[in-house]
Amino acid sequence: MPETILVIGSNGQIGTELVAELRRINGGSNVIACDIKEPDYDTLNAGPFEFSDVLKKENLKALFQKYRPTQVYLLAALLSAVGEQKPKMAWDLNMNGLFNVLDLAIEFQVKKVYWPSSIAVFGPHSPQFNTPQYCVMDPNTVYGFSKLAGERWCEYYFNKYGLDIRSIRYPGLIGWKAAPGGGTTDYAVHIFHEALQKGTYESFLSADTALPMMYMNDAIRATIQLMDAPAEQLTIRSSYNLGGISFTPDTLAAEIRKHIPDFKISYSDHDLRQAIADSWPKSIDDSQAQKDWGWEIEYDLAGMTRDMLQNLKDIKISN
Ligand code: SER
Repeated sequence: MPETILVIGSNGQIGTELVAELRRINGGSNVIACDIKEPDYDTLNAGPFEFSDVLKKENLKALFQKYRPTQVYLLAALLSAVGEQKPKMAWDLNMNGLFNVLDLAIEFQVKKVYWPSSIAVFGPHSPQFNTPQYCVMDPNTVYGFSKLAGERWCEYYFNKYGLDIRSIRYPGLIGWKAAPGGGTTDYAVHIFHEALQKGTYESFLSADTALPMMYMNDAIRATIQLMDAPAEQLTIRSSYNLGGISFTPDTLAAEIRKHIPDFKISYSDHDLRQAIADSWPKSIDDSQAQKDWGWEIEYDLAGMTRDMLQNLKDIKISN
């Protein structure tokens, strides 16, 4: 029996790439993309698309009724930087969107649910280096504590109702197919575009701000690998740490300079995102993901930089 997969929040940075990969694996018509906005041309033409707001439960329910999904991915969320501009809205979307999906997943007997968490669940008193799966967690952004609360609810629904829910704490994600959606790690995507277009970039994070990051190819592979893993192998039903590669704006700029020797980076002062970045881990211990479902990273800093620049150059040429 083919899976019927509903992806809620399909137009964002993760959704755009995830939908394409899920359609490649499962067939276009078996993956229903849904978002509040019209998707790009490729997503719209490669399979079904529905307008839906995750906060409108009745509309969402109609989609569950229409398609009877066997798997649901909930990606709709407000990220860290935007969340600080609209704190109540971020809480509402990130929490009530999750409740709507969890409850409908139970009502419609969805087999598996995926929901992303983030390194933002950690805070200033969490260990900064090689941050373990279990430690002090005192997130101080609305995004961070909505994700932490969401993790607790996911584990609760698993324990109490047997809902097979799986989750990853993503590091900052870097991809070329879609723009990032207002996070603190967005600089690591913008820098590539501006390096190619202008040869310069003003970073809103300071030169030595190390953060865990991951190339989108690895993130999508991790997500599908976790969803495919046998349930009995999974020991974490809140959310798995995932480490990726840790680097600073300065190191990334040096790597870009290997391809664009004249590239220049400068740094802005007093950006609100600096305080958010300073409260997050610099590197992450993901040994539990390695142990439970065989996680292994493929792209290092050099591989990611090469691939990003090549793909962005190709798009520019074909435009
Ligand atoms: N990339 C996200 C952000 O910066 C972290 O999960 O908000």
